[in-house]
Amino acid sequence: MSTHIGTSPAAVAASVNVPIHRQPVNVTVTGAGGQIGYALLFRIAAGALLGPTTPVRLTLLEIPQGLKAAEGTALELEDCAFDLLRGVTVTDDPAVAFAGVNIALLVGSRPRGPGMERADLLEANGRIFGPQGAAINAGAAEDVRVLVVGNPANTNALIAAAHAPDVPSERFTAMTRLDHNRAVGQLANHLDVNVGAIHGLTVWGNHSASQYPDVFHATAEGRAVRDLVDEQWLAQTFIPRVAQRGSEIIAVRGGSSVASAANAAIDHVADWVTGRGSEWTSAGVVSDGSYDVPPGLVCSFPVRSVDGQWRIVTGLERNEFSRSRIAASVAELVEERDAVRALGLLPLGRR
Ligand code: NAD
Ligand code: LMR
Repeated sequence: MSTHIGTSPAAVAASVNVPIHRQPVNVTVTGAGGQIGYALLFRIAAGALLGPTTPVRLTLLEIPQGLKAAEGTALELEDCAFDLLRGVTVTDDPAVAFAGVNIALLVGSRPRGPGMERADLLEANGRIFGPQGAAINAGAAEDVRVLVVGNPANTNALIAAAHAPDVPSERFTAMTRLDHNRAVGQLANHLDVNVGAIHGLTVWGNHSASQYPDVFHATAEGRAVRDLVDEQWLAQTFIPRVAQRGSEIIAVRGGSSVASAANAAIDHVADWVTGRGSEWTSAGVVSDGSYDVPPGLVCSFPVRSVDGQWRIVTGLERNEFSRSRIAASVAELVEERDAVRALGLLPLGRR
């Protein structure tokens, strides 16, 4: 089932107050009737994802039970009269949702509740990402970029990529930008500096409690962070606080993060598409074997966007502490990969 709310090009041109000269970019959001979908879609339509001169065409994918909520969101999008929005399609058919898609935000999946780990969602949510990967393979635009937000994000991205053999695997990414932003926020708070003064921080590994937020190459106002913080604070306060922040949010607000997750998804895609010069950030990308991470795993690395492609920042020294933390998180990714393989969620012969 699909519905379409269109905006005539003439009507759009009449309301435009910035020079808009590009073709619309097709952006698909899955789980569009859910919480993150609601926090994400209006910002995309307002230009936060691709900038103030790039029009977008939105497609909202839901399961049948979620269609009404997505349709309501589509009506509200229309009521915002966004200059950049060139139409909204709501559908429960992945083939329709991913036909011609340039940017796919795979959010739709169950969130965890109190007392659960994200890996507890492996089987139920993992089953969503194979068919979606296959639909992307069948119909997406040549330049498609995919961000997996639904948990467990790294392994879901691995599953989706494995079902899309014709799409270069580096186009499949998993969101660890929320962890990165959390780490920047905690560090800036602790050092009493602006978040913009922090550079060179990395979140390594899995978007899970095993992740390793690493400050050993970071600077704050140009000074080495390792000289500004003590090891006890790092090991006993900073790392666990960042790694457990998702659980903290669930405990405090009674549900998993929403607006900060949507914001991180926008940061990830905006940086990926537009680049950030020499600045580095963190993203779950397919390992090329760098830093002893087995090739093919979707692992969070230090990355820079160069010419619209994530590049792993290479050559960083890691002390014993960092090595063991990274290895522990990578070991968990290997376990998750083996678990979904055993469940038949990875096609034989690929990854
Ligand atoms: P939600 O329950 O509010 O919304 C999820 C939506 O997905 C629902 O509307 C549901 O109908 C839809 N859905 C389920 N299966 C689908 C499918 N096969 N195709 C399309 N839609 C489908 O949940 P939410 O708060 O929006 O969170 C979504 C996911 O994002 C969860 O897995 C959550 O754990 C994850 N998350 C990840 C991060 C991260 O940093 N990577 C951060 C926050 C949340
Ligand atoms: C988060 O980090 O906030 C999300 O992954 C939601 C969760 O389950 O923790």
